[in-house]
Amino acid sequence: MARTRPGRSCPRHYRYSPAVFARAAELRAQSLFIVGGLYGNPFALEAVLAMARREGATLAFNGDFNWFNVDPAEFESINETVLRHAAVRGNVETEIAGEDSGAGCGCAYPEWVGEAEVGRSNEILTRLRGTASAYPELRERLGVLPMHLVAEIAGLRIGIVHGDAESLAGWQFSQEALRERPERAAALLAGSGVDVFACTHTCLPVMREFDAPRGKALIVNNGAAGMPNFRDTRFGLATRIASTPSAQALYGARLGATVVEAVPVRYDHEAWMARFDRVWPAGSPAALSYRKRIASGPGYEVEQAVRTGAFSRAA
Ligand SMILES: [Fe+2]
Repeated sequence: MARTRPGRSCPRHYRYSPAVFARAAELRAQSLFIVGGLYGNPFALEAVLAMARREGATLAFNGDFNWFNVDPAEFESINETVLRHAAVRGNVETEIAGEDSGAGCGCAYPEWVGEAEVGRSNEILTRLRGTASAYPELRERLGVLPMHLVAEIAGLRIGIVHGDAESLAGWQFSQEALRERPERAAALLAGSGVDVFACTHTCLPVMREFDAPRGKALIVNNGAAGMPNFRDTRFGLATRIASTPSAQALYGARLGATVVEAVPVRYDHEAWMARFDRVWPAGSPAALSYRKRIASGPGYEVEQAVRTGAFSRAA
């Protein structure tokens, strides 16, 4: 049955109501880096730790910090490090923490992602699950991570999610859905009462402004912290929320006294390529699906990601 094909479906336990965000914030910070889609890149992890340290900022990982890290030592060190910070689980953490539910990678890939790619994602997940099986304590810690967090910075309410406002693996906040069905995302924003949703999961970044009952609202998807997000680039992307703009930001928007920005995660590209090639040689599922993107970025431009009336340093 089509709805239960591994990698295509959205398991019922992935879902929550947009109303869950109407609660007191559990995370308060002066400035916050939200890091989604690290995908097991240890050099990107090093880079975001340094970025946060430089500013004294709080780090929140919004899922899929695991993916390419099938090497046991790397699996252990990435998870031990991330779990010292605020974190929500992505579909990858959820699937490796639990027993095989038939959801495959749990990506809930939409129809525009091809069958071969979905199959390769399921193969990567199977390998990662094999590695994770030797670490029951880490699996347990991943399994009890929340699916969403509410943060507050200078009165701004921020919903930190992996997918969207109603599913851990939802695609409503993807650049594609925000172009084709912005009214759906606007309704989710209105139903949640948050000013900013910071999400990831759907591979490509986007920042889109909305008019909301509380004033301007924003959906910011960082794409991937551990892989390039734009054509001919070699850096990942994280979301930064703070009172003063960063000189590093590629683009951003201002909401009252706060700026929400996309900042580059400039990791050691050569080291990451070498590590990736060793673990995932030519012909492996990860090499076939991701090597080209890791080497030189996807066919996507900064201008396509910025859908705000606000400042942009992209040009
Ligand atoms: Fe994901």
